Amino acid sequence: MLKLKYLGGRKLSVKELICNTSKSYKVLIEKDILNYSGVHIKNFSNAKKVLVVTDDNVAGLYAARVVSHLKKHFHEVYLFVLKSGEESKSLDIAPKLYNYLADKFFDRQDLIISFGGGVVGDIAGFIASTYKRGIDFIQIPTSLLAQVDASIGGKNGINLEHGKNLIGTFYQPKLVLIDPILLNTLPKSDFNDGMAEIIKCAMIKSDKLFEKIVGFKTSDELEEIIYESIDIKRKIVEADEFESCERKLLNFGHTIGHSIEKIYEYKKYSHGKAVSIGMATIVRAGEFLNLTEPGCYNKLICVLKKFDLPYEFTCPIKDVLENCLNDKKAYLDYIDLVLIHSIGRGFIKKILKSKLKEYIRRDIL
Ligand code: GLY
Repeated sequence: MLKLKYLGGRKLSVKELICNTSKSYKVLIEKDILNYSGVHIKNFSNAKKVLVVTDDNVAGLYAARVVSHLKKHFHEVYLFVLKSGEESKSLDIAPKLYNYLADKFFDRQDLIISFGGGVVGDIAGFIASTYKRGIDFIQIPTSLLAQVDASIGGKNGINLEHGKNLIGTFYQPKLVLIDPILLNTLPKSDFNDGMAEIIKCAMIKSDKLFEKIVGFKTSDELEEIIYESIDIKRKIVEADEFESCERKLLNFGHTIGHSIEKIYEYKKYSHGKAVSIGMATIVRAGEFLNLTEPGCYNKLICVLKKFDLPYEFTCPIKDVLENCLNDKKAYLDYIDLVLIHSIGRGFIKKILKSKLKEYIRRDIL
């Protein structure tokens, strides 16, 4: 919903979504909202102390600005800068953050703000959900992927040697602030990773959004696309916050994608790129198995190419298969695969693990 609001004499056109999960929260989308973050956050928090968790990339660009806006509204504002990258999502980092909070006497009325991409959101969300059994948490995602996916829906995670996100909780934030201007400094490849998750949402729920992505030309159209993608995720998460059925749709492209990321030890393919390959592989198999309307594969790869996203894997099929079978979402003899009937109509198919090979084959179409 588009709302006109007045803030400090300024007329704002804030796009607002309300996510009605176990804890209801607003997602506010507006260009330049970062410069009004303090006043927005003050409306949702009586904290005396605020800890902003960020990484060294984002800190260099924006941290001083955020801290100065927050200082106008909160007594004590602290900044904790993580090393950028997946290594920060480790159990070794957690005690550093817990001890930092305890040293500064943070209590449950105080606030943690995640200011960064998915890694920062995951670790900050996990710490917020566990420190003193839960302290208020607000997200200001800075990458497109975090804006449309990681910051919505309350999942957080920490990696173990055995795999990614093996430890984590569902913990909804109090507020999410999304500033599309922040994407101006995002490397093109990271932007494309975020587009992969938007394409995923379109593929499972909205042919209308898919057409918008096909026609996407300038950053002016981005706010609307971000809004629609978040709205899709919002509805799914509202229907199934703890992922027992509907939310599994969001794993479209992810079973194969996670497997490919792991085969290359998270170095060759970023998450968005691996998911792109996963989506293309499953749509191609769906068409071959008469589960998916013909033509969807070609439409999908056209849009993936538009954002320089890959759609083929080159490693041995047996490696992809083996990793899919060890996916944390596989159970006993079955695995839930997400396919599409047509663009915008995703569905979940429980298949025998012994049949999975048919969905990964390359010698088709
Ligand atoms: N990123 C998938 C989910 O939030 O369920």
